[in-house]
Amino acid sequence: FEFDYNETYRPLYHFTPKYGWMNDPNGMVYHNGEYHLFYQYNPYGSRWANMHWGHAVSKDLVSWEHLPFALAPDSLGSIFSGSAVIDKDNTAGFGNDAMIAIYTSAGKIQTQSIAYSLDNGRTFTTYEGNPVLSDLSYPDFRDPKVFWHNATNQWIMALATGQTISFYGSDNLREWDKLSEFGEGIGAHGGVWECPDLFPLTYNGQTKWVLFVSINPGGPNGGSATQYFIGDFDGKTFKPDPLPYPLWLDYGRDNYAGVTWSNIPDSDGRKLFIGWMNNWDYANHIPPVHFKGASTLPRELKLAHNGGHLVVANPPTEEVNALRGNTKKIDAFTVNKSHTIDNLTEENTGAFEIEMDIEAGSTSAFNFILANEKGERTVFSFDPEKGVFGVDRSKSGIVDFTDNFTTGTIEAPLVKKENYHIRLFVDRTSVECFVNDGELVQTNSIFPTEPYNSLSFESDEEVTISSINVYPIRSK
Ligand code: FRU
Repeated sequence: FEFDYNETYRPLYHFTPKYGWMNDPNGMVYHNGEYHLFYQYNPYGSRWANMHWGHAVSKDLVSWEHLPFALAPDSLGSIFSGSAVIDKDNTAGFGNDAMIAIYTSAGKIQTQSIAYSLDNGRTFTTYEGNPVLSDLSYPDFRDPKVFWHNATNQWIMALATGQTISFYGSDNLREWDKLSEFGEGIGAHGGVWECPDLFPLTYNGQTKWVLFVSINPGGPNGGSATQYFIGDFDGKTFKPDPLPYPLWLDYGRDNYAGVTWSNIPDSDGRKLFIGWMNNWDYANHIPPVHFKGASTLPRELKLAHNGGHLVVANPPTEEVNALRGNTKKIDAFTVNKSHTIDNLTEENTGAFEIEMDIEAGSTSAFNFILANEKGERTVFSFDPEKGVFGVDRSKSGIVDFTDNFTTGTIEAPLVKKENYHIRLFVDRTSVECFVNDGELVQTNSIFPTEPYNSLSFESDEEVTISSINVYPIRSK
């Protein structure tokens, strides 16, 4: 049937399903020159139900080709979240270089199943021996993330098991042995643990293992969010370093269930991530009509030192720069009380990036505000004295589609610095704010009834904006 693809609340440069509902990104894997993005998908309506794996591919992480869905519910249940690997050495016996999806079959109980593709993910065959892993002692038993662990020569699966993450090992992806369980008495426990990921990152030549755990509810600003742990993994047990847990990947309300791409070539070496730009608090009620759900920008995960301790920074991947239109360079200025830049972009499509350097020095607090001519606005507040970076979307546009979209200022801890490098990505229904190369991130959805096209600054003390560029963004 016909529907309006270009509906008002469809982002221009973030991935969205053509029609229907999307939640978690699944099975991201790079293979034969393509980045695959599978995702939790309802092809029959724009609310959560009938979980399939939707499918899209990209050569550059920013322009996506929609493909038919890859996995549909079967006798074991619907297809919940999971991962995909390339079985180079045919450990599972489905063929060299088979793409193997490992996912949760959600029926009366949750079990783990596998399916393989020998045609670059275009068609999948489910394994006749499914499920490959079940354990009746856990009602919540899902979201397998699998990777090859060189040092111990085996596949490792991280699996959400209630409010812990269990690790399993396998030689062939078909038989799994439990190795260990992590999470009791550490981190945030305000809700069920979901969508884990375990991967190495290096910092100053030292390898650390990072464990992602999405949690819902119990995020720092309500509802869904992704916490992480940094430590060591020996092929059996994850040992966290003593850090001030919980640590959050993104303090905004709308970055959930994200995990990393597998099979990125060593010659690239990056850890690439994408999340679901939504929150279970209100995901089923957001204004888009014919579809619901968008991905975050693709991001690169890096260890960084925020002045206090190691953090997982998650700036946009460099591919995102290719979306920039003609630079509008604005002269440096000093804010004395207030300063407004109107007509940020000529096209006024509501899709742009602002990149700026703020010389805050010892300024105690300042704000910048995105707004439209109707007075709808999203306020970003920096309070280095209190150590808070806040986002207030209570007057951002449509907010009353649910009672918990605006529950107060969305707060993140700010480590005081003299200078802040900010990248602000606006795409009609979202604003992602990256501070200091993604050391501190807030991703939030917004639903202004007309595009934001001005940026204002407010400060009682002088603050200098030493450089500021505006880039209109077009989808590729
Ligand atoms: C996370 C989640 C997963 C589950 C999927 C179902 O958002 O709840 O734990 O596999 O969504 O769609």
